[in-house]
Amino acid sequence: MNLMKTLDFSIRSCSYNDIPAVMDVNEITLPENYPLFFYEQILEKYPKTFIIAFKKDDPKQIIGYIMWRVERGHSSFGLQHVKKAHLVSLAVLQDYRRQGIANELLLESMELIREFKISEYVLEVRVSNSVAVKLYIDLHNFKKIRIIGHYYRDGEDAFYMAAKTSDIGSKQISSQNSGGMTDKEIKQYFLDKNQGYLLYNCPNCGSLKIKALTYSLAGSVDPNNNDFVICADCNQEMTLSDISKGKFNSYK
Ligand SMILES: CC(C)(COP(=O)(O)OP(=O)(O)OC[C@H]1O[C@@H](n2cnc3c(N)ncnc32)[C@H](O)[C@@H]1OP(=O)(O)O)[C@@H](O)C(=O)NCCC(=O)NCCS
Repeated sequence: MNLMKTLDFSIRSCSYNDIPAVMDVNEITLPENYPLFFYEQILEKYPKTFIIAFKKDDPKQIIGYIMWRVERGHSSFGLQHVKKAHLVSLAVLQDYRRQGIANELLLESMELIREFKISEYVLEVRVSNSVAVKLYIDLHNFKKIRIIGHYYRDGEDAFYMAAKTSDIGSKQISSQNSGGMTDKEIKQYFLDKNQGYLLYNCPNCGSLKIKALTYSLAGSVDPNNNDFVICADCNQEMTLSDISKGKFNSYK
């Protein structure tokens, strides 16, 4: 049960004093952790877009953060060489999720980083992180551009996602995958790879889901595994054993 539905939060730029608390949030929420000097460098170079969320009634309690850096490289949408904002890290503590904090951190920081004259936003996200993928696609117009194999230390692949600055804030409804990888292409990628992932469609809304399997399980799912998976698109609950029995049209 979420007791924090009426949380009053606010956001502000990070300060050097906030970094230890930001590191705590990062270490609790994500396996990708960084040394102190890494945060200090981001803060030194991009002080306005390193933003934190805190509880209004307890400003010292940091509950979320976002960091970006700026780089040059090939466009995800054409052949040009462009300047891009690259999402370094975004996280919100478990107890404070689903209240619009990440959305607010993204909105504010994506607006502020435009002062670097960037033309695209880019990020990597675990292929199994359907919650974050949904946030980037539905609310911020990102597209799945390609899959980067073994991007994470534990072997999981990443979606490389990108959005054009000109598409942000345009309020136009973007259809999922338009201009990015289609579900068919994503399925084909994993079928060719043939290990490490379970692909299935949500039985309720049909959206494509990707579950990263530990390598000892690669190629099969323990039929007694009753861990629940919740569809980020429609909240349908299903168990891994249901999926492994083929009830949900899985692709191994
Ligand atoms: C991803 C994460 C940052 C989202 O933070 P959050 O503050 O809960 O997100 P928001 O409340 O702003 O959600 C915005 C939208 O994202 C999507 N979303 C967020 N959480 C969701 C969930 N549990 N199920 C389905 N959709 C979800 C929804 O579209 C939501 O909009 P809605 O509430 O109007 O439907 C948070 O879950 C988190 O910290 N996860 C662990 C770290 C992580 O994965 N970081 C991203 C790495 S790339």
